[in-house]
Amino acid sequence: MAVFVAFEGVEGSGKSTQVHLLYERMLARHLPVVKIREPGSTPLGDHLRSWLKEEASTTPRAELFLFCAARNQLVTEVIRPALGNGSHVISDRYSGSTIAYQAHGRGLGEEVVRPLLELATEGVEPDLYVLLDVDRDAASGMFCAYCHGVKNSAPIDDYGAPSEYAPLCFCSMDEEVMERVGRRTGSSQSGFGSLSGKEPDVRSGSVESMDDEGQRFEEEPLEFHQRVRDGYIGLAKADPETWLVLDATKSPEELSDLIWERVQALLSR
Ligand code: TYD
Repeated sequence: MAVFVAFEGVEGSGKSTQVHLLYERMLARHLPVVKIREPGSTPLGDHLRSWLKEEASTTPRAELFLFCAARNQLVTEVIRPALGNGSHVISDRYSGSTIAYQAHGRGLGEEVVRPLLELATEGVEPDLYVLLDVDRDAASGMFCAYCHGVKNSAPIDDYGAPSEYAPLCFCSMDEEVMERVGRRTGSSQSGFGSLSGKEPDVRSGSVESMDDEGQRFEEEPLEFHQRVRDGYIGLAKADPETWLVLDATKSPEELSDLIWERVQALLSR
């Protein structure tokens, strides 16, 4: 049976790296797999992603509706058809983000957000949520000046990132942040191109966009990010069967192995 895995965590937690590593592992085993990101991975989702990144002024409820609109489009156009075709789906964020950011970060409350999520997802839920958890208090001083993510301790060559960013942080391995850093510094980042608008291949493929210039959430105060983290921890505690919580400061290789162990168990159900 096709497996749906969603990755969650605060900005800079190394999610995109783990999404990529899991995708590569599945491809290496010739498993049919689709890689997506939220918001994005449909023409509407890509459009809303750029808009949300660039436009600062939205009410919290308007923001919630936009994320939910993008999700319903993604469920209908990509996720449900992929799972129906027997393809596994790996998503960089899903409904967990909406609970963490809109219900808790923005303070809308789960009672407001959950009914909308039901409409948006039409009951399509991940078999596994992987939460890459970062305790910013405990990890203070460990954050990168570029992406505000956790600093990197892994050997950079394994990921092929340019050496000038090597000692910094997860962003040196994170395609999306590399893209952002590349744009800021004007350096070229070959291999990190946009696939925006590409038709999804529901047997094997990925659909991504890379139009990230804005800082909607990155510039929120520390308390916002603490509420987001508390929201995630609450979700994970309420449903430990579905949520795998990992310490994002572990090495990418170790995290990838732990995630693979869990995914393999799901694949052999
Ligand atoms: P992105 O640059 O993809 O962040 P990240 O690399 O950390 O995933 O931007 C997505 C932002 O949107 C991120 O800050 C979290 C936020 N978000 C929500 O607030 N609610 C949602 O439902 C989703 C999917 C994302």
